[in-house]
Amino acid sequence: MDDKALVELAKKARANAYAPYSGFSVGAAVLAADGRVFSGCNIENASYGLTNCAERTAIFSAVAAGARELAALAVVADGELPCSPCGACRQVIAEFAVERIILANLAGKSRVVTKEDLLPFAFSFEEKSLPSD
Ligand code: THU
Repeated sequence: MDDKALVELAKKARANAYAPYSGFSVGAAVLAADGRVFSGCNIENASYGLTNCAERTAIFSAVAAGARELAALAVVADGELPCSPCGACRQVIAEFAVERIILANLAGKSRVVTKEDLLPFAFSFEEKSLPSD
């Protein structure tokens, strides 16, 4: 599955966004190493802090189905610029080592980034040196 196809699936997932509070719909699709694709949308709540972003919905669906090796993730929203994941999603992207992240908007602008671009020096239980070491 190429980036374009993954973005199309993220766009489709966006149609299911539950965003009555922000009005900002987001879709995501994650490609697992075994070829399966899982999608997700943002799901808001009257208690705003309980909102789950599209990226985490997609990644958690993949992991819940037994797919932990994740090759790529596409995120789509209707912004002027390609949609950039929030801090919480960046930590989850780091946890499951998603290598290729495609950020896109509905107008067709897109940009490919790595998990390190999104979150350098992510929290991990593995021993790691500090960026300045
Ligand atoms: N949101 C996402 O789903 N993904 C992002 O990358 C950024 C923000 C959602 C959360 C909330 O439902 C709405 O967009 C506005 O913040």
